[in-house]
Amino acid sequence: MDQALQPLASRRPNGPLSGDITVPGDKSISHRALMFAALAIGQTRITGLLEGEDVLRTAAAMRALGAELHREADGGWRVSGRGVGGLREPEDVLDMGNSGTAARLLCGVLATHDLFAVMTGDASLRRRPMRRVTEPLTASGARFESRDGGRLPLAIRGARDPMPLEYVLPVASAQVKSALLLAGLNAPGWTRVTEPHPTRDHTERMLRHFGAEVEVEQRNTGRVASVRGQPELRAADVVVPGDPSSAAFPLVAAAIVPGSSVTVRGVALNAARTGLLVTLGEMGAGLVIGNRRTEGGEDVGDITLTQAALRGIEVPAGRAPSMIDEYPVLAVAASAASGVTRMHGLAELRVKESDRLAATAAMLQGNGVRVEIEGDTLVVYGSGLPLGGGLVATDMDHRLAMSALVLGLATREPVRIDDGSFIATSFPGFVDLMQGLGASIG
Ligand code: S3P
Repeated sequence: MDQALQPLASRRPNGPLSGDITVPGDKSISHRALMFAALAIGQTRITGLLEGEDVLRTAAAMRALGAELHREADGGWRVSGRGVGGLREPEDVLDMGNSGTAARLLCGVLATHDLFAVMTGDASLRRRPMRRVTEPLTASGARFESRDGGRLPLAIRGARDPMPLEYVLPVASAQVKSALLLAGLNAPGWTRVTEPHPTRDHTERMLRHFGAEVEVEQRNTGRVASVRGQPELRAADVVVPGDPSSAAFPLVAAAIVPGSSVTVRGVALNAARTGLLVTLGEMGAGLVIGNRRTEGGEDVGDITLTQAALRGIEVPAGRAPSMIDEYPVLAVAASAASGVTRMHGLAELRVKESDRLAATAAMLQGNGVRVEIEGDTLVVYGSGLPLGGGLVATDMDHRLAMSALVLGLATREPVRIDDGSFIATSFPGFVDLMQGLGASIG
């Protein structure tokens, strides 16, 4: 499971970045496409699936649970599902690698299957909180045993007679919401999840796409997403759009390298994912979104970013769920801006692949950027041209690794990272793609 370290470095390129690219498929949608296809009757074809290590863990888990998955020569995937409630007991431990989404969503699926399963992950995943899903899932009749603090490895005894769930999310987490909705799939009646702050709604959209009855309504208490249990999910082809969280890296790189202009085509533009674009626009970046269309129930478009002087801004806490994975690279943009950027409401960053709040601050500090953490707020003092020269400890965190490499494109001295191997969890081909734009990374 532990991979060899891959040190990498980046430096200021001689000229602007330019190009017209696509990025790999959306990670959130890819996990869900595999899981839902495995729970559907019939054969689903998935195109554009992200073949990153996180998603391949989900593919392996669905296979271990009895679904048939085949990768075809053209890169498409065919999945023959077993129907809601039809997964079979896995013979061995399910290893979810680095992926919190895979682990948490699968806890939901397994909670309402009458089977026993054990789940583990890599050292990063084994330190992340799982009680946020296991506690509410217990009301379905499932039992969970885990290490202290609700951490993996985790044993699941799924409910024999599953109960539907009613839950109000205490944290803004699409993973928790999705875990509960997925558990509700195999319980009679309606499962309802209230979220005070809306999070990405790929689960709701894709459940409908596969034929489930899903209701979404806005109440005083928040947004309520409900699914009627025990539907017959029917196989439905999925086209996975480009991942906005991956597009973030070439876009921010273009925003901070003078004279750059980069287009990323076919990116998911779900409103619950576009906080970074809003923020970069407010900071002064030149952004144009063209060719807007809908594919497989998701909004998609082509994004062109043209470099312009960036200024520091206030990023409100309410925006956090729509750009929760983009703060490390936004902090990089902020350090190359002029003036102070304050990013509020970042408590959830502490429980990502690393403690991303502390790790982002350390990445910048180690490269001569003045940073402060005030409670859940990250304050970055932009200096136009940060010093660089640091060695960043990436702590098994793919987004931190890519953010640090983007930082090095706009610093006086090169930036080094201790390990780029985790980039493959979400963005295979990142280094080549960035080099193709003119970036000096290697
Ligand atoms: C995800 C939700 C987010 C995000 C993660 C993917 C998902 O986590 O950080 O990368 O696919 O539902 P939370 O919902 O826990 O914030």
